[in-house]
Amino acid sequence: MNIDWYPGHMTKARRQMQEDLKLIDLIVEIRDARIPESSKNPDLMQMGQNKLRLIILNKADLADPRITEEWAEKYKKEDVYVIQTDSKAQKSRNEILKAFEVASAPKRERDKKRGLRNRPVRAMIVGIPNVGKSTFINLVTKKSQAKTGNKPGVTRGKQWIHTSSLIDLLDTPGILWPKFESPEVGLHLAMCGAISDERIPMEELGIEIIDYLKKNYQGLLAERYEVDENQENYEILNQAALFRKVILPGGEANTERMAEMLVNEFRTGKLGRISLERPSAEETKDETVEE
Ligand code: G4P
Repeated sequence: MNIDWYPGHMTKARRQMQEDLKLIDLIVEIRDARIPESSKNPDLMQMGQNKLRLIILNKADLADPRITEEWAEKYKKEDVYVIQTDSKAQKSRNEILKAFEVASAPKRERDKKRGLRNRPVRAMIVGIPNVGKSTFINLVTKKSQAKTGNKPGVTRGKQWIHTSSLIDLLDTPGILWPKFESPEVGLHLAMCGAISDERIPMEELGIEIIDYLKKNYQGLLAERYEVDENQENYEILNQAALFRKVILPGGEANTERMAEMLVNEFRTGKLGRISLERPSAEETKDETVEE
């Protein structure tokens, strides 16, 4: 399965983001905790040079907690401040605000040395489509909708929201397009719903999920759909459809519809907390390349 294209409106979004980046001190980069590598855009590092950074591993409620912890450790070792969130849960809010403050502390220190006091650090949310940017912004700004309005030197029309006395957040996020560096990246994005389904052959995607689960989360398919995991992937899909009574008028399994259901159950966490990328696998890959 190969998915790779760059929609025209992304060029405009990228240009807009580059402009917005000039206004801010802290980049809050949202990634999908299930696919922290595929949901990033390496260009951001270059675009956001000299900015403070905070990585949010969002949708952590859908990811395998052990693996998310491993990712967090890996990024911390690279000196990036990182937290795990479920943006749909109110309880994440305080931790997020705290992380904003800690990640932006070096800027406040610098300001203090230069005699500038009480100047809020400006932050901006960036991330690929569907990673949870709007949900995250809504969560963070819910209790403090007070908009600070335009500020001197700030492009007209920009809205800043006070999240605390220390941080102002740009109300519109920057949209990044993921980099399709390998077919696996496209596949992972499709599995997590980061790419519009119109372009995706659902049955193939369902088969890919079955293949991954069979290899990495043994027993899960058997338990949920009462299938024999030793069978070939398509047969598993077929069996699952019959088990769920997802059938065509003639009584045959409707594998297309079953695939859609399976993909949806994976994406919404009904199949359990599953990660598609592991830092340990990344390291193994790097080692292989070096050899
Ligand atoms: P975007 O602005 O980056 O494009 O993403 P958006 O906030 O619209 O979120 C995309 C989908 O991901 C939404 O689901 C949203 O509810 C869900 N989401 C965001 N953050 C989290 C999270 O931390 N955990 C989980 N489980 N889901 C999250 P949707 O089905 O498109 O909309 P809705 O029916 O939930 O409103």
